[in-house]
Amino acid sequence: MKVYKLKNGVTVPQVGFGTWQIKEGELAFNAVSTALEVGYRHIDTAAVYGNEVSVGKAINQSNLKREEIFVTSKLWNSDRGYEETLKAFEVSLKKLNLEYMDMYLLHWPANAKQFDNWRDINASSWKSLEKLYEEGKVKAIGVSNFMREHLEALLPTATIKPMVNQIEFHPGFMQEDTIALCEKESILIEAWSPLGSGKMLDNEVLIAIAKKYNVSVAQLCIRWVLQKGHLPLPKSVTPERIKNNLDVYGFIISDEDVNRIDALPYIGGSGLNPSEVEF
Ligand code: A2P
Repeated sequence: MKVYKLKNGVTVPQVGFGTWQIKEGELAFNAVSTALEVGYRHIDTAAVYGNEVSVGKAINQSNLKREEIFVTSKLWNSDRGYEETLKAFEVSLKKLNLEYMDMYLLHWPANAKQFDNWRDINASSWKSLEKLYEEGKVKAIGVSNFMREHLEALLPTATIKPMVNQIEFHPGFMQEDTIALCEKESILIEAWSPLGSGKMLDNEVLIAIAKKYNVSVAQLCIRWVLQKGHLPLPKSVTPERIKNNLDVYGFIISDEDVNRIDALPYIGGSGLNPSEVEF
């Protein structure tokens, strides 16, 4: 599969398999096993998804070598802070039953609504990620759901800068301000919910454009994310859809149609605003 190169030279398969909301147990095991069988080489999980054991089992039981698969997990909010972060990383690694992680992310920024010292909290969690990276326990480190204000506070405190920022991104939810900063800092954008959690699939403009290329709206959205230079993380538990979502290299969306998708009216995201959520 085609890859993106992170600023530290590490390569990441361009389409990742998202596992948010895929329940621990057979469902997660089967979904990840199917994803690996049909060609995904990048699996994205998180401590809070509660499915690391089954995700790890599917990875370990596949016929692939460990180094062929890029595995990401994330620090949950209740584990913020220097020591806590180091411990939580080990717990995730153990659940996954892996020797190393390819990437570890801070899942959500501590924000100003929750904490007066949100800047310090994020900076101290980040220090642990730097340590894990320096020790070689993880090949890349980054953040998730960091908006411009959170990045602007974190970057001056960081010795090693985040290599990715995983945010909600899909047609109708363009996150221009945060993305402009990330592009300036060479931070790769990973897009969670590239299909808007499924709500973009009945959009008339997207349906018409998808028809033109003889693809599904899901394929169109995923391909659009790629052409924007970002890394899509589609999620599905349905084998045909898992396969369909990876089949995005057989067509190219014209600049004109990319512009039409870019220009869709603001639709909004999931409602989880990183500057305000309190969890
Ligand atoms: P399911 O998991 O039941 O297959 P997102 O990645 O934006 O969060 O969207 C995930 C949602 O979109 C899930 O409800 C998933 O359903 C659905 N979905 C994923 N891929 C497709 C597809 N190719 N066609 C239709 N629906 C899809």
